[in-house]
Amino acid sequence: MAAVVWGRGFSRAWLRRSAGPGCGRHYRAALCTELKRPLAIEEVTPRPVRPHEVRVDVHFCGVNFADILVCRGQYQERPHLPFTPGMEFSGTVLETGTDVSTVKQGDRVIGVSGLNGMAEECVIDQKRLWQIPESIPLREAAALPASYGTAILALERRACTQPGETVLVTAAAGATGLAVIDVATNVLQAKVIAAAGSDEKCKLAMQRGAQSSVNYSQGSLKEAVKKLVGSGGVNVVIDTVGGDVFLEALHSLAWEGRIVVVGFAGGTIASVPANLLLLKNVSAMGVIWGRYKDQNFPLFSGSISSALQYCQQGRIQPYIGAVFKLEEVNDAFLHVMQRKSTGKVLLSLK
Ligand SMILES: NC(=O)c1ccc[n+]([C@@H]2O[C@H](COP(=O)([O-])OP(=O)(O)OC[C@H]3O[C@@H](n4cnc5c(N)ncnc54)[C@H](OP(=O)(O)O)[C@@H]3O)[C@@H](O)[C@H]2O)c1
Repeated sequence: MAAVVWGRGFSRAWLRRSAGPGCGRHYRAALCTELKRPLAIEEVTPRPVRPHEVRVDVHFCGVNFADILVCRGQYQERPHLPFTPGMEFSGTVLETGTDVSTVKQGDRVIGVSGLNGMAEECVIDQKRLWQIPESIPLREAAALPASYGTAILALERRACTQPGETVLVTAAAGATGLAVIDVATNVLQAKVIAAAGSDEKCKLAMQRGAQSSVNYSQGSLKEAVKKLVGSGGVNVVIDTVGGDVFLEALHSLAWEGRIVVVGFAGGTIASVPANLLLLKNVSAMGVIWGRYKDQNFPLFSGSISSALQYCQQGRIQPYIGAVFKLEEVNDAFLHVMQRKSTGKVLLSLK
């Protein structure tokens, strides 16, 4: 019978429960062994680095909505079981392969791995690492790649947001939402209307730079936006919720407005009524940050470099709402799924 394959071509023989002292070095990792079940924390035997790979001592790992969907079998990518989730992390370089020229031992790095980040160590291709400028703490750096990379590509590349334009962002107090507010207001000089599901979340979004807010759990988003901006509408919508929230936001667009589909956190994928696009010369588009890694790597890499640069320059400041320990990973997942989270949720591996 074929061996169970784990990660990128390494058999489960690399995964071992702790066998006690004297049996070699181990590190702890969160493991999804069965979809829709709580993750396990297991002791894992390190594997050797290949010539182009780097071993990173992981300090912080982002907890993304997508990580949870992967562990439920509800994401576009479906890795073989068992696997360790975690697509983005920060840490320091422990060891480099013989062909590695971009980083050296001790360097502080961000890694974008797709999987394997929710562990004390991660082996990753050197191309998936970015050096962290000295002034940015590892904690803040871990909050940048997915949320700010997505916000930057959604606002800058896809919607071509211009200074002075009005941006409506949904789930505005979430990880992507607050990153959108930060980039739109502090980098692009746009005005933001924050739409979120509670008064507390609206308040936070305002504190983080939004000019006005709408609590969409208390009535029609479309009517509330109309009260704020009149019948002219908003220039750009960045939507991570989907369903009726997406449709109401689509109705709120101005002439030549742009709506960017980022996600479906509410669980419903809406259909676009094509007449709405025609009537106001509106454009509906999507963004999937992670896929740029394969389709246009320079652009993908540029989104992370821009986030690091904006952060180093003090123009943006990631908001970290909660930090959980590795052994609390299931609580962290619940915190996000129960809509309790604000901003970025991180796992601390230290
Ligand atoms: N396309 C991409 O490249 C990309 C990149 C990053 C994220 N995403 C997607 O964007 C969405 C948000 O991601 P995120 O990391 O920003 O997550 P997040 O911070 O956890 O935001 C999720 C928020 O969505 C809202 N929401 C509405 N209905 C919900 C429901 N039924 N269950 C849970 N949350 C619900 C909640 O805010 P309220 O209470 O305010 O409604 C919740 O806090 C996800 O679908 C994710 O997969 C896509």
